Amino acid sequence: MYHSRVVPNDLNAFWMPFTANRQFKQAPRMFVSAKDMHFTTTDGRKVLDGTAGLWCVNAGHCRPKITEAIREQAGELDYAPAFQMGHPLAFEFANRLVEIAPKGMEHVFFTNSGSESVDTALKIAIAYHRARGEGSRFRLIGRERGYHGVNFGGISVGGIVTNRKMFGTLLTGVAHLPHTHLPEKNAFTKGVPEHGAELADELERIVALHDASTIAAVIVEPVAGSTGVILPPKGYLQRLREICTKHGILLIFDEVITGFGRLGAPFAADYFGVTPDIITTAKGVSNGVIPMGAVFVTKEIHDTFMNGPDHMIEFFHGYTYSGNPIACAAALGTLDTYKEEGLLTRGEELAPYWEDALHSLKGEPNVIDIRNIGLIGAIELAPIAGQPTKRAFSAFVKAFERGALIRTTGDIIALSPPLIITKGQINELIDHVREVLRAVD
Ligand SMILES: Cc1ncc(COP(=O)(O)O)c(C=O)c1O
Repeated sequence: MYHSRVVPNDLNAFWMPFTANRQFKQAPRMFVSAKDMHFTTTDGRKVLDGTAGLWCVNAGHCRPKITEAIREQAGELDYAPAFQMGHPLAFEFANRLVEIAPKGMEHVFFTNSGSESVDTALKIAIAYHRARGEGSRFRLIGRERGYHGVNFGGISVGGIVTNRKMFGTLLTGVAHLPHTHLPEKNAFTKGVPEHGAELADELERIVALHDASTIAAVIVEPVAGSTGVILPPKGYLQRLREICTKHGILLIFDEVITGFGRLGAPFAADYFGVTPDIITTAKGVSNGVIPMGAVFVTKEIHDTFMNGPDHMIEFFHGYTYSGNPIACAAALGTLDTYKEEGLLTRGEELAPYWEDALHSLKGEPNVIDIRNIGLIGAIELAPIAGQPTKRAFSAFVKAFERGALIRTTGDIIALSPPLIITKGQINELIDHVREVLRAVD
């Protein structure tokens, strides 16, 4: 067996993703096992998971139903070709997803990650308009500070400058809505902020410039996560929906983070009562255990593709591992665990407690804003003059040393624990953050 307890003595070959490689390799932070709410480090320390891994381990770690499903499936059918062939689990899983999806989402396209889900959704949007005779609709509208993964489609509609500036021209025909982070008006708001719904009207300005007949879709995260937790102002998503509908533009919700219970409802579309035309998911769909993503579309969109001769492929797109049997087994085990433990709505019960605990950090050193929704929280710190990101990164390292995994983006600490967290563990996590804030410069 591959021995996870051996500490690698040469860290050189592995080029780590989204990591300060040189800093990491001087002082590695390694996990060797995990159970429920905790990781264990190479030196045997327990670390409380305040981020559900990377916003994905919604049911907690090494859950028996999921582990068992993977084990069994690996010995039964390890792989089946994804193109022109099928296997029952992919169909069963798609049906199970449609059962819990927001009303109107009737078909599922499988991918292996959030980035692939996003690029799949963008391609579906453009191809859909073409299939219905409006091939002039090719433009895509994203949003400043949006994160939609790292593939070319995703970084083109995304709005995080560091993820875009190194990569040339990106996709053409993309415009961006303004972000909705208005700290001067909304700082320390509990839950959804009051101010900023009118920022959705910027879509009208973009339509006036380019004409609706050239625009295929708008893509937004209902709650932006990776950019540091930016919430939609009250009424903002409703307004976006209305403007998209008025102009025949598809609305895509990127629910890679918000899907599968993060806000206390199965999807953000349920939470906000706004139904998009396409939903992208990944992460929580398989509890992060095995790569898996799913794109949900309406019957209308799906059926538009189902024309032409029967023997013809309707959509020239797919991945070798779309609907991989072991990923489907893991994801079915995940859905069962969510269902048995009520995890897709557990965040609703815990949200008030979570909110109070988070906001108790107001007044701690350098805290300039606190934001929360469902089981997501953000603590924004004033940057050290001339050294942006350093203060939050120091907090991250100190928290790890103290026994809590937090996440930072810029100078923002983001928290998103597994949905199984107890009130006692919420206190513990927030106490770690409090101590760390008092300890960093
Ligand atoms: C909203 C959103 N979309 C897409 C992605 C990309 O997912 P992946 O890293 O699985 O490609 C992420 C990842 O954090 C995300 O938060």
